[in-house]
Amino acid sequence: AFSPKLKICCIGAGYVGGPSCAVIAYKCPDIQVTIVDINEQRIKEWNSDNLPVYEPGLDEIVFACRGKNLFFSSDVDFHINEADLIFVSVNTPTKKSGLGAGFASDLAYLESATRRIAKVATSSKIVIEKSTVPCKTAESMRAILDANSNDLIRFDILSNPEFLAEGTAINDLLHPDRVLIGSLTTPEGIRARSVLASVYEHWVPKEKIITANLWSSELSKLAANALLAQRISSINSLSAICEATGADVDEVAFACGLDSRIGPKFLKASVGFGGSCFQKDILNLVYLSESLNLPEVAAYWNQVVIMNEYQKERFTSRIIKSLFNTITNKNLAIFGFAFKKNTGDTRESAAITLIKYFLRENANVRIYDPKVPKEQIVRDLTDPEVASVEKFNQRVQMFDCPYEAAKGTDAIVIVTEWDEFKVLDYQKIYGEMNKPAFVFDGRSIVDYNVLKKIGFKVSVVGKAI
Ligand code: NAD
Ligand code: UGA
Repeated sequence: AFSPKLKICCIGAGYVGGPSCAVIAYKCPDIQVTIVDINEQRIKEWNSDNLPVYEPGLDEIVFACRGKNLFFSSDVDFHINEADLIFVSVNTPTKKSGLGAGFASDLAYLESATRRIAKVATSSKIVIEKSTVPCKTAESMRAILDANSNDLIRFDILSNPEFLAEGTAINDLLHPDRVLIGSLTTPEGIRARSVLASVYEHWVPKEKIITANLWSSELSKLAANALLAQRISSINSLSAICEATGADVDEVAFACGLDSRIGPKFLKASVGFGGSCFQKDILNLVYLSESLNLPEVAAYWNQVVIMNEYQKERFTSRIIKSLFNTITNKNLAIFGFAFKKNTGDTRESAAITLIKYFLRENANVRIYDPKVPKEQIVRDLTDPEVASVEKFNQRVQMFDCPYEAAKGTDAIVIVTEWDEFKVLDYQKIYGEMNKPAFVFDGRSIVDYNVLKKIGFKVSVVGKAI
Protein backbone atom coordinates (compact mmCIF):
# COMPACT_ATOMS: atom_id res chain seq x y z
CA ALA A 1 0.00 0.00 0.00
CA PHE A 2 1.04 3.57 -0.69
CA SER A 3 2.22 5.26 2.51
CA PRO A 4 2.82 8.88 1.63
CA LYS A 5 5.50 10.97 3.28
CA LEU A 6 3.15 13.92 3.43
CA LYS A 7 -0.53 14.53 2.75
CA ILE A 8 -1.67 17.65 0.98
CA CYS A 9 -5.24 18.87 0.69
CA CYS A 10 -6.09 21.69 -1.72
CA ILE A 11 -9.38 23.49 -1.08
CA GLY A 12 -10.70 24.78 -4.42
CA ALA A 13 -10.53 22.73 -7.64
CA GLY A 14 -10.43 25.68 -10.02
CA TYR A 15 -8.01 27.06 -12.60
CA VAL A 16 -5.30 27.39 -9.95
CA GLY A 17 -5.96 24.60 -7.43
CA GLY A 18 -6.44 21.93 -10.13
CA PRO A 19 -3.34 22.47 -12.27
CA SER A 20 -0.98 23.58 -9.47
CA CYS A 21 -1.72 20.63 -7.19
CA ALA A 22 -1.83 18.16 -10.10
CA VAL A 23 1.74 19.24 -10.90
CA ILE A 24 2.76 18.74 -7.26
CA ALA A 25 1.37 15.19 -7.41
CA TYR A 26 3.13 14.58 -10.73
CA LYS A 27 6.51 15.74 -9.43
CA CYS A 28 6.20 14.26 -5.92
CA PRO A 29 5.23 10.58 -6.11
CA ASP A 30 5.95 10.30 -2.37
CA ILE A 31 3.22 12.85 -1.50
CA GLN A 32 -0.54 12.26 -1.52
CA VAL A 33 -2.49 15.16 -2.99
CA THR A 34 -6.26 15.50 -2.70
CA ILE A 35 -8.07 18.42 -4.31
CA VAL A 36 -11.47 19.13 -2.77
CA ASP A 37 -14.33 21.42 -3.72
CA ILE A 38 -17.85 22.14 -2.54
CA ASN A 39 -18.90 22.14 -6.19
CA GLU A 40 -19.70 18.46 -6.70
CA GLN A 41 -20.20 18.82 -10.43
CA ARG A 42 -16.69 20.22 -10.80
CA ILE A 43 -15.23 17.29 -8.83
CA LYS A 44 -17.17 14.86 -11.02
CA GLU A 45 -15.60 16.46 -14.08
CA TRP A 46 -12.10 16.29 -12.60
CA ASN A 47 -12.73 12.56 -12.11
CA SER A 48 -13.93 12.12 -15.72
CA ASP A 49 -12.19 12.02 -19.11
CA ASN A 50 -13.34 15.56 -19.79
CA LEU A 51 -11.56 17.82 -17.30
CA PRO A 52 -13.32 21.10 -16.38
CA VAL A 53 -10.24 23.21 -17.18
CA TYR A 54 -8.58 23.29 -20.59
CA GLU A 55 -4.81 23.79 -20.42
CA PRO A 56 -2.25 22.42 -22.85
CA GLY A 57 -0.53 19.45 -21.12
CA LEU A 58 -2.95 19.23 -18.17
CA ASP A 59 -4.74 16.03 -19.28
CA GLU A 60 -1.50 14.06 -19.50
CA ILE A 61 -0.44 15.09 -16.00
CA VAL A 62 -3.81 14.39 -14.38
CA PHE A 63 -4.26 11.06 -16.16
CA ALA A 64 -0.74 10.00 -15.14
CA CYS A 65 -1.34 10.48 -11.38
CA ARG A 66 -5.09 10.31 -10.78
CA GLY A 67 -5.97 7.36 -8.56
CA LYS A 68 -2.29 6.88 -7.61
CA ASN A 69 -1.27 9.89 -5.53
CA LEU A 70 -3.74 12.46 -6.91
CA PHE A 71 -7.40 12.47 -5.90
CA PHE A 72 -10.41 14.74 -6.41
CA SER A 73 -13.12 14.68 -3.79
CA SER A 74 -16.10 16.60 -2.47
CA ASP A 75 -15.56 15.22 1.03
CA VAL A 76 -13.94 18.48 2.12
CA ASP A 77 -13.90 17.81 5.88
CA PHE A 78 -12.34 14.36 5.69
CA HIS A 79 -9.43 15.49 3.55
CA ILE A 80 -8.82 18.66 5.55
CA ASN A 81 -8.52 16.57 8.66
CA GLU A 82 -6.26 14.01 7.04
CA ALA A 83 -3.79 16.53 5.60
CA ASP A 84 -0.51 17.92 6.91
CA LEU A 85 -0.49 20.82 4.46
CA ILE A 86 -3.64 22.61 3.27
CA PHE A 87 -3.64 24.93 0.27
CA VAL A 88 -6.52 27.40 0.23
CA SER A 89 -7.12 28.09 -3.45
CA VAL A 90 -10.67 29.40 -3.50
CA ASN A 91 -12.01 32.27 -5.59
CA THR A 92 -11.62 35.86 -4.35
CA PRO A 93 -13.70 37.90 -6.83
CA THR A 94 -14.34 41.64 -6.66
CA LYS A 95 -17.17 42.41 -4.22
CA LYS A 96 -20.45 43.15 -5.99
CA SER A 97 -22.20 44.86 -3.10
CA GLY A 98 -21.62 46.23 0.37
CA LEU A 99 -18.56 47.98 1.72
CA GLY A 100 -15.86 48.35 -0.96
CA ALA A 101 -18.23 47.12 -3.71
CA GLY A 102 -16.57 47.27 -7.12
CA PHE A 103 -13.06 47.36 -5.65
CA ALA A 104 -12.44 45.19 -2.60
CA SER A 105 -12.04 41.41 -2.81
CA ASP A 106 -14.86 39.24 -1.62
CA LEU A 107 -13.16 37.17 1.06
CA ALA A 108 -16.27 35.20 2.03
CA TYR A 109 -15.07 31.98 0.31
CA LEU A 110 -11.64 32.29 1.87
CA GLU A 111 -13.11 32.85 5.28
CA SER A 112 -15.54 29.96 5.03
CA ALA A 113 -12.72 27.63 3.94
CA THR A 114 -10.62 28.85 6.89
CA ARG A 115 -13.50 28.32 9.31
CA ARG A 116 -13.96 24.81 7.93
CA ILE A 117 -10.31 24.05 8.68
CA ALA A 118 -10.66 25.48 12.19
CA LYS A 119 -13.78 23.42 12.78
CA VAL A 120 -12.76 19.99 11.55
CA ALA A 121 -9.00 19.79 12.18
CA THR A 122 -8.03 17.37 14.94
CA SER A 123 -4.27 17.69 14.39
CA SER A 124 -1.80 20.49 13.59
CA LYS A 125 -1.83 21.91 10.07
CA ILE A 126 0.21 24.17 7.86
CA VAL A 127 -2.35 26.37 6.10
CA ILE A 128 -1.19 27.99 2.86
CA GLU A 129 -2.81 30.99 1.21
CA LYS A 130 -2.71 30.17 -2.50
CA SER A 131 -5.57 32.50 -3.44
CA THR A 132 -4.68 36.08 -4.29
CA VAL A 133 -5.64 38.16 -1.26
CA PRO A 134 -5.30 41.70 0.05
CA CYS A 135 -2.23 42.45 2.13
CA LYS A 136 -2.77 41.34 5.76
CA THR A 137 -5.33 38.62 5.04
CA ALA A 138 -3.12 36.08 6.80
CA GLU A 139 -3.81 38.01 9.98
CA SER A 140 -7.56 37.42 9.69
CA MET A 141 -6.95 33.76 8.91
CA ARG A 142 -4.74 33.52 11.97
CA ALA A 143 -7.41 35.07 14.19
CA ILE A 144 -9.98 32.51 13.03
CA LEU A 145 -7.60 29.56 13.33
CA ASP A 146 -6.10 30.65 16.65
CA ALA A 147 -9.54 30.96 18.19
CA ASN A 148 -9.89 27.25 17.54
CA SER A 149 -6.43 25.96 18.37
CA ASN A 150 -5.40 24.38 21.67
CA ASP A 151 -2.32 22.84 23.27
CA LEU A 152 -2.48 19.87 20.94
CA ILE A 153 -3.33 21.58 17.67
CA ARG A 154 -1.40 24.45 16.15
CA PHE A 155 -1.88 26.18 12.85
CA ASP A 156 0.97 27.77 10.90
CA ILE A 157 0.04 30.11 8.09
CA LEU A 158 2.09 30.63 4.94
CA SER A 159 1.53 32.77 1.88
CA ASN A 160 2.42 31.09 -1.40
CA PRO A 161 0.89 33.13 -4.23
CA GLU A 162 0.53 31.56 -7.65
CA PHE A 163 2.01 33.27 -10.71
CA LEU A 164 0.84 30.90 -13.45
CA ALA A 165 -0.85 32.36 -16.51
CA GLU A 166 -3.75 30.54 -18.16
CA GLY A 167 -2.96 28.87 -21.46
CA THR A 168 0.62 28.24 -20.30
CA ALA A 169 -0.18 27.03 -16.77
CA ILE A 170 1.56 23.66 -16.96
CA ASN A 171 4.76 25.07 -18.39
CA ASP A 172 4.69 27.92 -15.84
CA LEU A 173 4.25 25.40 -13.01
CA LEU A 174 6.95 23.03 -14.24
CA HIS A 175 9.44 25.86 -14.86
CA PRO A 176 8.48 28.75 -12.59
CA ASP A 177 10.47 32.00 -12.66
CA ARG A 178 10.25 31.81 -8.88
CA VAL A 179 8.25 30.24 -6.07
CA LEU A 180 7.49 32.73 -3.32
CA ILE A 181 6.88 31.61 0.25
CA GLY A 182 5.90 34.17 2.87
CA SER A 183 6.00 33.30 6.55
CA LEU A 184 6.46 34.67 10.03
CA THR A 185 10.10 34.72 11.08
CA THR A 186 9.40 32.82 14.29
CA PRO A 187 11.04 29.38 14.60
CA GLU A 188 7.63 27.78 13.88
CA GLY A 189 7.12 30.01 10.84
CA ILE A 190 10.51 29.07 9.47
CA ARG A 191 9.89 25.39 10.11
CA ALA A 192 6.55 25.53 8.26
CA ARG A 193 8.23 27.38 5.40
CA SER A 194 10.86 24.69 5.04
CA VAL A 195 8.21 21.94 4.91
CA LEU A 196 6.54 23.71 1.97
CA ALA A 197 9.91 24.45 0.33
CA SER A 198 10.74 20.73 0.52
CA VAL A 199 7.68 20.03 -1.64
CA TYR A 200 8.80 22.45 -4.39
CA GLU A 201 12.41 21.27 -4.11
CA HIS A 202 11.28 18.03 -5.80
CA TRP A 203 11.56 19.93 -9.10
CA VAL A 204 12.28 23.64 -8.64
CA PRO A 205 15.94 24.71 -8.31
CA LYS A 206 16.63 25.92 -4.76
CA GLU A 207 17.67 29.42 -5.82
CA LYS A 208 14.26 29.95 -7.39
CA ILE A 209 12.44 29.25 -4.13
CA ILE A 210 12.46 32.61 -2.39
CA THR A 211 11.16 33.67 0.98
CA ALA A 212 9.72 36.89 2.36
CA ASN A 213 7.67 38.07 5.26
CA LEU A 214 3.94 37.37 5.03
CA TRP A 215 2.91 40.89 4.06
CA SER A 216 5.59 41.25 1.39
CA SER A 217 4.51 37.95 -0.07
CA GLU A 218 0.83 38.93 -0.21
CA LEU A 219 1.63 42.35 -1.65
CA SER A 220 4.11 40.96 -4.21
CA LYS A 221 1.30 39.04 -5.87
CA LEU A 222 -0.89 42.13 -6.27
CA ALA A 223 2.17 44.15 -7.32
CA ALA A 224 3.28 41.66 -10.00
CA ASN A 225 -0.16 41.64 -11.61
CA ALA A 226 -0.44 45.42 -11.39
CA LEU A 227 2.96 45.90 -13.04
CA LEU A 228 2.13 43.45 -15.83
CA ALA A 229 -1.26 45.04 -16.51
CA GLN A 230 0.32 48.48 -16.38
CA ARG A 231 2.61 47.54 -19.28
CA ILE A 232 -0.40 46.51 -21.37
CA SER A 233 -2.25 49.74 -20.59
CA SER A 234 0.92 51.68 -21.39
CA ILE A 235 1.33 50.07 -24.81
CA ASN A 236 -2.42 50.36 -25.48
CA SER A 237 -2.28 54.08 -24.69
CA LEU A 238 0.57 54.35 -27.21
CA SER A 239 -1.52 52.40 -29.74
CA ALA A 240 -3.97 55.32 -29.75
CA ILE A 241 -1.15 57.71 -30.62
CA CYS A 242 0.05 55.32 -33.34
CA GLU A 243 -3.37 55.13 -34.97
CA ALA A 244 -3.57 58.92 -34.98
CA THR A 245 -0.08 59.54 -36.36
CA GLY A 246 0.97 56.71 -38.64
CA ALA A 247 3.44 55.20 -36.19
CA ASP A 248 3.11 51.41 -35.89
CA VAL A 249 2.69 50.09 -32.34
CA ASP A 250 4.40 46.76 -33.11
CA GLU A 251 7.47 48.64 -34.37
CA VAL A 252 7.42 50.91 -31.33
CA ALA A 253 7.09 47.94 -28.94
CA PHE A 254 9.92 46.11 -30.70
CA ALA A 255 12.23 49.14 -30.60
CA CYS A 256 11.49 49.82 -26.93
CA GLY A 257 11.57 46.16 -25.91
CA LEU A 258 15.15 45.74 -27.12
CA ASP A 259 16.25 48.00 -24.28
CA SER A 260 17.23 45.37 -21.74
CA ARG A 261 15.85 47.58 -18.98
CA ILE A 262 12.40 47.44 -20.59
CA GLY A 263 12.36 43.94 -22.14
CA PRO A 264 10.05 42.64 -24.88
CA LYS A 265 7.30 40.86 -22.94
CA PHE A 266 3.79 42.15 -22.23
CA LEU A 267 4.06 44.93 -24.80
CA LYS A 268 1.55 43.54 -27.29
CA ALA A 269 -1.18 46.06 -28.04
CA SER A 270 -4.66 44.56 -27.90
CA VAL A 271 -8.37 45.11 -27.54
CA GLY A 272 -7.63 45.40 -23.82
CA PHE A 273 -6.61 42.86 -21.21
CA GLY A 274 -9.12 40.41 -19.78
CA GLY A 275 -8.94 37.46 -17.42
CA SER A 276 -10.17 36.91 -13.91
CA CYS A 277 -7.28 38.60 -12.15
CA PHE A 278 -5.69 41.73 -13.61
CA GLN A 279 -8.65 44.01 -13.10
CA LYS A 280 -9.65 42.38 -9.83
CA ASP A 281 -6.18 42.62 -8.37
CA ILE A 282 -5.60 46.23 -9.42
CA LEU A 283 -8.96 47.26 -8.00
CA ASN A 284 -7.94 45.47 -4.85
CA LEU A 285 -4.71 47.46 -4.77
CA VAL A 286 -6.68 50.66 -5.36
CA TYR A 287 -8.97 49.80 -2.46
CA LEU A 288 -6.01 48.97 -0.23
CA SER A 289 -4.34 52.29 -1.09
CA GLU A 290 -7.51 54.20 -0.37
CA SER A 291 -8.04 52.46 2.92
CA LEU A 292 -4.45 53.34 3.86
CA ASN A 293 -5.31 56.95 3.06
CA LEU A 294 -3.06 57.09 -0.02
CA PRO A 295 -5.40 58.64 -2.62
CA GLU A 296 -2.61 59.53 -5.10
CA VAL A 297 -1.41 55.94 -5.13
CA ALA A 298 -4.98 54.73 -5.59
CA ALA A 299 -5.57 57.09 -8.53
CA TYR A 300 -2.30 56.05 -10.16
CA TRP A 301 -3.21 52.36 -10.29
CA ASN A 302 -6.85 53.01 -11.08
CA GLN A 303 -5.74 54.68 -14.29
CA VAL A 304 -4.50 51.29 -15.56
CA VAL A 305 -8.08 50.00 -15.43
CA ILE A 306 -9.52 53.21 -16.88
CA MET A 307 -7.12 52.96 -19.84
CA ASN A 308 -8.20 49.36 -20.39
CA GLU A 309 -11.88 50.33 -20.58
CA TYR A 310 -10.98 53.20 -22.90
CA GLN A 311 -9.15 50.81 -25.23
CA LYS A 312 -12.28 48.67 -25.64
CA GLU A 313 -14.47 51.73 -26.28
CA ARG A 314 -11.97 53.18 -28.73
CA PHE A 315 -11.78 49.94 -30.71
CA THR A 316 -15.59 49.82 -30.87
CA SER A 317 -15.82 53.44 -32.06
CA ARG A 318 -13.27 52.76 -34.76
CA ILE A 319 -15.35 49.84 -36.01
CA ILE A 320 -18.56 51.88 -36.08
CA LYS A 321 -16.87 54.79 -37.81
CA SER A 322 -15.34 52.56 -40.48
CA LEU A 323 -18.71 50.91 -41.11
CA PHE A 324 -20.13 54.28 -42.21
CA ASN A 325 -21.17 55.31 -38.70
CA THR A 326 -23.77 52.64 -38.18
CA ILE A 327 -23.73 48.94 -37.39
CA THR A 328 -27.48 48.64 -36.82
CA ASN A 329 -28.68 45.38 -38.40
CA LYS A 330 -25.21 44.73 -39.82
CA ASN A 331 -23.69 41.27 -39.33
CA LEU A 332 -20.40 41.04 -37.46
CA ALA A 333 -18.34 37.86 -37.21
CA ILE A 334 -16.56 37.68 -33.85
CA PHE A 335 -13.39 35.59 -34.01
CA GLY A 336 -12.53 34.49 -30.49
CA PHE A 337 -14.42 34.77 -27.23
CA ALA A 338 -11.82 33.57 -24.67
CA PHE A 339 -9.81 36.27 -22.87
CA LYS A 340 -6.60 34.96 -24.50
CA LYS A 341 -5.58 32.07 -26.73
CA ASN A 342 -5.17 28.47 -25.49
CA THR A 343 -7.82 28.73 -22.81
CA GLY A 344 -11.57 28.26 -22.70
CA ASP A 345 -11.82 30.81 -19.89
CA THR A 346 -13.95 33.86 -20.63
CA ARG A 347 -13.82 35.74 -17.32
CA GLU A 348 -13.58 39.50 -18.01
CA SER A 349 -12.89 38.74 -21.68
CA ALA A 350 -12.77 41.86 -23.84
CA ALA A 351 -15.13 39.97 -26.19
CA ILE A 352 -17.95 40.37 -23.67
CA THR A 353 -17.58 44.15 -23.46
CA LEU A 354 -17.22 44.58 -27.23
CA ILE A 355 -20.29 42.45 -27.94
CA LYS A 356 -22.24 44.38 -25.30
CA TYR A 357 -21.47 47.57 -27.24
CA PHE A 358 -22.34 45.95 -30.59
CA LEU A 359 -25.68 44.72 -29.25
CA ARG A 360 -26.51 48.18 -27.91
CA GLU A 361 -26.14 49.40 -31.49
CA ASN A 362 -28.46 46.58 -32.62
CA ALA A 363 -25.86 44.75 -34.66
CA ASN A 364 -26.11 40.98 -35.25
CA VAL A 365 -23.13 39.00 -33.98
CA ARG A 366 -21.96 35.59 -35.15
CA ILE A 367 -19.43 34.13 -32.71
CA TYR A 368 -16.75 31.52 -33.25
CA ASP A 369 -14.25 30.36 -30.62
CA PRO A 370 -12.39 27.04 -30.82
CA LYS A 371 -12.53 26.27 -27.07
CA VAL A 372 -15.28 28.21 -25.29
CA PRO A 373 -18.41 26.09 -24.69
CA LYS A 374 -21.61 27.60 -26.13
CA GLU A 375 -23.36 27.49 -22.75
CA GLN A 376 -20.62 29.73 -21.40
CA ILE A 377 -21.17 32.30 -24.16
CA VAL A 378 -24.90 32.25 -23.38
CA ARG A 379 -24.21 32.78 -19.66
CA ASP A 380 -21.79 35.64 -20.29
CA LEU A 381 -23.95 37.52 -22.78
CA THR A 382 -27.26 37.14 -20.96
CA ASP A 383 -25.82 38.61 -17.78
CA PRO A 384 -28.21 41.51 -17.03
CA GLU A 385 -25.28 43.92 -17.31
CA VAL A 386 -24.58 42.77 -20.87
CA ALA A 387 -27.86 42.03 -22.69
CA SER A 388 -31.37 40.73 -22.15
CA VAL A 389 -32.23 37.15 -23.05
CA GLU A 390 -34.56 38.52 -25.70
CA LYS A 391 -31.84 40.60 -27.32
CA PHE A 392 -29.47 37.65 -27.18
CA ASN A 393 -31.95 35.38 -28.94
CA GLN A 394 -32.65 38.01 -31.56
CA ARG A 395 -29.10 39.07 -32.33
CA VAL A 396 -26.54 36.41 -31.35
CA GLN A 397 -25.60 33.20 -33.13
CA MET A 398 -22.78 30.78 -32.27
CA PHE A 399 -20.82 28.63 -34.72
CA ASP A 400 -18.45 25.66 -34.69
CA CYS A 401 -16.57 26.88 -37.73
CA PRO A 402 -15.08 30.29 -38.56
CA TYR A 403 -16.10 30.05 -42.22
CA GLU A 404 -19.75 29.57 -41.28
CA ALA A 405 -19.55 32.42 -38.77
CA ALA A 406 -18.20 34.80 -41.41
CA LYS A 407 -20.80 33.95 -44.07
CA GLY A 408 -22.96 36.91 -45.03
CA THR A 409 -21.24 39.30 -42.62
CA ASP A 410 -20.08 42.86 -43.23
CA ALA A 411 -17.05 42.60 -40.97
CA ILE A 412 -14.82 40.21 -39.06
CA VAL A 413 -13.68 41.34 -35.63
CA ILE A 414 -10.63 39.46 -34.32
CA VAL A 415 -10.82 39.56 -30.53
CA THR A 416 -8.71 36.60 -29.35
CA GLU A 417 -5.26 35.84 -30.77
CA TRP A 418 -5.90 32.15 -31.56
CA ASP A 419 -3.14 30.88 -33.91
CA GLU A 420 -5.70 29.40 -36.29
CA PHE A 421 -6.94 32.89 -37.21
CA LYS A 422 -3.56 33.55 -38.86
CA VAL A 423 -3.93 30.71 -41.33
CA LEU A 424 -7.59 30.79 -42.38
CA ASP A 425 -8.41 30.85 -46.09
CA TYR A 426 -9.34 34.53 -46.16
CA GLN A 427 -9.86 34.41 -49.93
CA LYS A 428 -12.69 31.91 -49.41
CA ILE A 429 -14.08 33.96 -46.50
CA TYR A 430 -14.02 37.14 -48.60
CA GLY A 431 -16.03 35.43 -51.32
CA GLU A 432 -18.91 34.79 -48.92
CA MET A 433 -19.10 38.20 -47.21
CA ASN A 434 -21.07 41.36 -47.99
CA LYS A 435 -19.02 44.01 -49.81
CA PRO A 436 -17.21 46.13 -48.92
CA ALA A 437 -15.87 43.47 -46.51
CA PHE A 438 -13.98 44.61 -43.43
CA VAL A 439 -11.51 43.02 -41.03
CA PHE A 440 -10.86 44.65 -37.64
CA ASP A 441 -7.82 43.00 -36.12
CA GLY A 442 -7.82 43.75 -32.39
CA ARG A 443 -4.68 41.64 -31.83
CA SER A 444 -2.54 42.58 -34.78
CA ILE A 445 -2.08 38.95 -35.82
CA VAL A 446 -3.03 38.77 -39.51
CA ASP A 447 -0.91 39.91 -42.45
CA TYR A 448 -2.90 42.97 -43.45
CA ASN A 449 -1.11 43.31 -46.79
CA VAL A 450 -2.41 39.89 -47.84
CA LEU A 451 -5.94 40.78 -46.72
CA LYS A 452 -5.85 44.09 -48.54
CA LYS A 453 -4.75 42.36 -51.72
CA ILE A 454 -7.75 40.05 -51.47
CA GLY A 455 -9.97 43.11 -51.31
CA PHE A 456 -10.68 43.53 -47.59
CA LYS A 457 -10.78 46.92 -45.90
CA VAL A 458 -8.51 46.34 -42.90
CA SER A 459 -8.07 48.13 -39.56
CA VAL A 460 -5.46 46.94 -37.09
CA VAL A 461 -5.07 48.03 -33.49
CA GLY A 462 -2.13 50.42 -33.16
CA LYS A 463 -1.74 51.00 -36.90
CA ALA A 464 -3.06 53.86 -38.98
CA ILE A 465 -4.30 51.61 -41.78
P1 NAD B 1 -12.00 29.28 -9.55
O1 NAD B 1 -13.27 30.00 -9.37
O2 NAD B 1 -11.70 28.62 -10.86
O3 NAD B 1 -11.88 28.12 -8.44
C1 NAD B 1 -12.17 28.30 -7.09
C2 NAD B 1 -12.89 27.05 -6.57
O4 NAD B 1 -13.01 27.14 -5.15
C3 NAD B 1 -14.31 26.88 -7.09
O5 NAD B 1 -14.43 25.64 -7.77
C4 NAD B 1 -15.20 26.92 -5.83
O6 NAD B 1 -16.31 26.05 -5.87
C5 NAD B 1 -14.23 26.51 -4.76
N1 NAD B 1 -14.60 26.94 -3.41
C6 NAD B 1 -15.01 28.17 -3.00
N2 NAD B 1 -15.22 28.18 -1.67
C7 NAD B 1 -14.94 26.93 -1.22
C8 NAD B 1 -14.97 26.32 0.06
N3 NAD B 1 -15.32 27.01 1.16
N4 NAD B 1 -14.64 25.00 0.16
C9 NAD B 1 -14.29 24.30 -0.94
N5 NAD B 1 -14.23 24.83 -2.19
C10 NAD B 1 -14.56 26.12 -2.33
O7 NAD B 1 -10.84 30.30 -9.18
P2 NAD B 1 -9.31 30.30 -9.70
O8 NAD B 1 -9.21 30.93 -11.03
O9 NAD B 1 -8.74 28.94 -9.48
O10 NAD B 1 -8.66 31.32 -8.67
C11 NAD B 1 -8.45 30.97 -7.32
C12 NAD B 1 -7.56 32.02 -6.67
O11 NAD B 1 -6.28 32.03 -7.31
C13 NAD B 1 -8.09 33.45 -6.77
O12 NAD B 1 -7.75 34.11 -5.58
C14 NAD B 1 -7.30 34.02 -7.92
O13 NAD B 1 -7.14 35.42 -7.79
C15 NAD B 1 -5.97 33.35 -7.79
N6 NAD B 1 -5.20 33.21 -9.03
C16 NAD B 1 -5.81 32.86 -10.21
C17 NAD B 1 -5.06 32.67 -11.37
C18 NAD B 1 -5.70 32.28 -12.68
O14 NAD B 1 -5.01 32.26 -13.67
N7 NAD B 1 -6.98 31.96 -12.73
C19 NAD B 1 -3.67 32.78 -11.32
C20 NAD B 1 -3.07 33.12 -10.11
C21 NAD B 1 -3.85 33.32 -8.97
C1 UGA C 1 -1.99 36.83 -15.38
C2 UGA C 1 -0.49 36.88 -15.05
O1 UGA C 1 0.27 36.86 -16.27
C3 UGA C 1 -0.09 35.70 -14.17
O2 UGA C 1 1.30 35.81 -13.80
C4 UGA C 1 -0.96 35.70 -12.92
O3 UGA C 1 -0.66 34.57 -12.10
C5 UGA C 1 -2.41 35.64 -13.32
O4 UGA C 1 -2.72 36.79 -14.16
C6 UGA C 1 -3.36 35.70 -12.17
O5 UGA C 1 -3.02 36.16 -11.11
O6 UGA C 1 -4.49 35.30 -12.43
P1 UGA C 1 -3.52 35.49 -17.10
O7 UGA C 1 -4.54 36.52 -16.77
O8 UGA C 1 -3.91 34.07 -17.02
O9 UGA C 1 -2.23 35.66 -16.15
O10 UGA C 1 -2.97 35.74 -18.58
P2 UGA C 1 -1.99 36.85 -19.22
O11 UGA C 1 -1.12 36.16 -20.18
O12 UGA C 1 -1.34 37.68 -18.21
O13 UGA C 1 -3.00 37.74 -20.05
C7 UGA C 1 -3.93 38.61 -19.44
C8 UGA C 1 -4.61 39.46 -20.49
O14 UGA C 1 -3.71 40.43 -21.02
C9 UGA C 1 -5.14 38.67 -21.68
O15 UGA C 1 -6.38 39.20 -22.08
C10 UGA C 1 -4.09 38.92 -22.74
O16 UGA C 1 -4.59 38.79 -24.03
C11 UGA C 1 -3.70 40.36 -22.43
N1 UGA C 1 -2.35 40.72 -22.90
C12 UGA C 1 -1.26 40.07 -22.44
C13 UGA C 1 -2.20 41.77 -23.80
O17 UGA C 1 -3.18 42.39 -24.22
N2 UGA C 1 -0.93 42.13 -24.22
C14 UGA C 1 0.17 41.49 -23.76
O18 UGA C 1 1.29 41.87 -24.17
C15 UGA C 1 0.01 40.43 -22.86
